[in-house]
Amino acid sequence: MLKDKNILIGVCGGISAYKVCDLVSRLKKKEANINIIMTRASTNFINPLTFQSLSLNKVVSDMFDKPSYLEIDHISLAKKADIFVIAPATANIMGKIANGIADDMLSTTIMATKAPVVLVPAMNSNMYENPILQDNISLLKNYGYIFIDPVDGRLACGDTGKGKMAEPEFIEKFITSFLTSSSELKGKKIIVTAGPTKEPIDPVRFISNHSTGKMGYAIAEKAANRGADVYLISGPTNLEMPIGVNLINVVSAKEMYNAIMSHYYNADVVIKSAAVSDYKPSEISSQKIKKEDEDLLIKLEKNPDILYELGKIKENKILIGFAMETQNLIENAKEKIKKKNLDFIVANDLNQKGAGFAFDTNIVKIIDKNGHVENISKMAKIDLADIIIDRVIMLLKNRNIDKRL
Ligand code: CTP
Repeated sequence: MLKDKNILIGVCGGISAYKVCDLVSRLKKKEANINIIMTRASTNFINPLTFQSLSLNKVVSDMFDKPSYLEIDHISLAKKADIFVIAPATANIMGKIANGIADDMLSTTIMATKAPVVLVPAMNSNMYENPILQDNISLLKNYGYIFIDPVDGRLACGDTGKGKMAEPEFIEKFITSFLTSSSELKGKKIIVTAGPTKEPIDPVRFISNHSTGKMGYAIAEKAANRGADVYLISGPTNLEMPIGVNLINVVSAKEMYNAIMSHYYNADVVIKSAAVSDYKPSEISSQKIKKEDEDLLIKLEKNPDILYELGKIKENKILIGFAMETQNLIENAKEKIKKKNLDFIVANDLNQKGAGFAFDTNIVKIIDKNGHVENISKMAKIDLADIIIDRVIMLLKNRNIDKRL
């Protein structure tokens, strides 16, 4: 929820201004207070009354409008904003900001604000690629302006290319995460692994498992939301990249191992929620294996047990594993804690409905290295991610205390 948050939105003259109506409606549903400043050009695309009805606040569209009440002037809007989002951000507004021009209500308010300013460009792809604009964008980034980059797609002018404004749903998620994030994990590097690995048999076939990556992606999102520097090392999934994380895509267990090792030395925490294939075909056929009359035997060899390898060189890092079991859950999970040198393990009993792969919920036991078992009842993976991150924060605090002793 965004109650008590003041979001200032600047709307410029571009066809994607219509998408900002959806953005305002989404943010309003989260109870944010929204003020909108429209450039004169943008009022040709959307009537200010639309934004007024959606935001339930007076829309400001011209600097020389007489304010209907004292709250509405560019300085007070600039001051009270927790975040200032310019969407769509045209080449014109970015050129003005980059060159210190303040000649209308929107550009003046941008100059007057100390709030973080997020620019959401949208325009024809040739305009977007124009080197003058790109120089302006680099300059603005150096000044600390935040960008939500446009995406590739079919543009209103009929061209296809980079220039399409990010979707309202994405912008809303970005704003929510920005406004609700904390700094508890600032300066901490956390590696999260997620999804399955795929082990190729030939160019068209592979060995894998049913992992969807939902749990790992939720953990990465929550860790980033608490200020950590997150490296999400992910096997193949269909999930959207969580906001604020560094995503590294891998396919096989070996690739996952290499990616983790290249980030491990200065990591504070590793959370291994990926479902790594324990075995891979000993040989990968370079050609598609043709059907024969006989049965086919594929020889499998062991993949590295990544967590076990990490446990051997753990030092003072925090290592967290996941365990999927269909029998002897606690016993097996405890065995894995010991063998892999873990701080705790999140154990799923796959026999329970609503636990494990593909579900949006999970039912787990968190077992620590002292054998303490905590039963966590069925809950959304995104909420479970918060609980896991709480435990991590506690362990990090204790680690600092231990260091001082
Ligand atoms: N894991 C790993 N590398 C592997 C296999 C597992 O890093 N090759 C990690 C998983 O990411 C998980 C933990 O080890 O965090 C436990 O995984 P799990 O598959 O439950 O256990 P295994 O050790 O593979 O044992 P088994 O499959 O026999 O239960």
